[in-house]
Amino acid sequence: MKIIESAKEMQEWALSHRAKGQKIALVPTMGSLHEGHLSLLREGKKLCDQLVLSLFVNPAQFGPNEDLKQYPKDLKGDLHKAQDCQVDVLFLPTTSDIYPENFQTYVDVTELAQPLCGASRPGHFKGVATVVLKLFNIVQPHVALFGEKDFQQLRVIEQMVQDLNLPVEIKPMPIVREADGLAMSSRNKKLSKEERQASLTISLSLAKAKMCVDQGERDPQKIKEAVQATLEETKKITIDYIQLCHPKTLQPLPLLTLPALLAIACFVGKTRLIDNCILR
Ligand code: PAF
Repeated sequence: MKIIESAKEMQEWALSHRAKGQKIALVPTMGSLHEGHLSLLREGKKLCDQLVLSLFVNPAQFGPNEDLKQYPKDLKGDLHKAQDCQVDVLFLPTTSDIYPENFQTYVDVTELAQPLCGASRPGHFKGVATVVLKLFNIVQPHVALFGEKDFQQLRVIEQMVQDLNLPVEIKPMPIVREADGLAMSSRNKKLSKEERQASLTISLSLAKAKMCVDQGERDPQKIKEAVQATLEETKKITIDYIQLCHPKTLQPLPLLTLPALLAIACFVGKTRLIDNCILR
């Protein structure tokens, strides 16, 4: 596995492999890799000749009171996992290479970035879209893989690719869960034993919503109340939002039409977790 730290060198590598007719897959991450990331890497390996894993904790997508400094890091573990997944290039840029002095160009996906996490984390998706566009320009991938756990992020990136005519295919990948149902996230490492236990109510509440819909419930308010009641069974959870929305526009659904996205964000202790499912 080759490790590249400079954006210029990464771009030169990408252009030379493209010139040879090779297909490049990119899995962009902030590191602290878990099974969710590894599923993207395994798929990327199948789809393309060259697999690039980028690892960059992007300051532009963290708000001033968020966990940028406490974001979990495990470079040694990540190196092993990347090697096991047969990553060809690990791209490890520095912050000053991605955001040099006098950096002033940002990408704003205006509508899709507004609701859900965009409302609780102003500027978050501007930071995400900007860094992802930069990574696309540097790594020049044919295919880029993103997990559906960050459903809004995936939609924002799909919209950016469409709006800006970017020559890259976005491959969405299903949520990977722990055996007990908790969606895999780098932030799960920050949970105490009690918080880890409490976090199980998140996937349980999604299952509860699915059950309501299977039993014929079509009132979004009633479904949200059932989700809320399940989450409130533990005192350790503070709900940020529970929303039923259109899976393409992410606009709230006043009347339930299927398929619908049920998206949840909550704090378990100080750790913010998100999860979602499509109700069909
Ligand atoms: O999902 C993430 O880890 C990040 O938001 C991403 C896509 C790597 C951009 O920093």
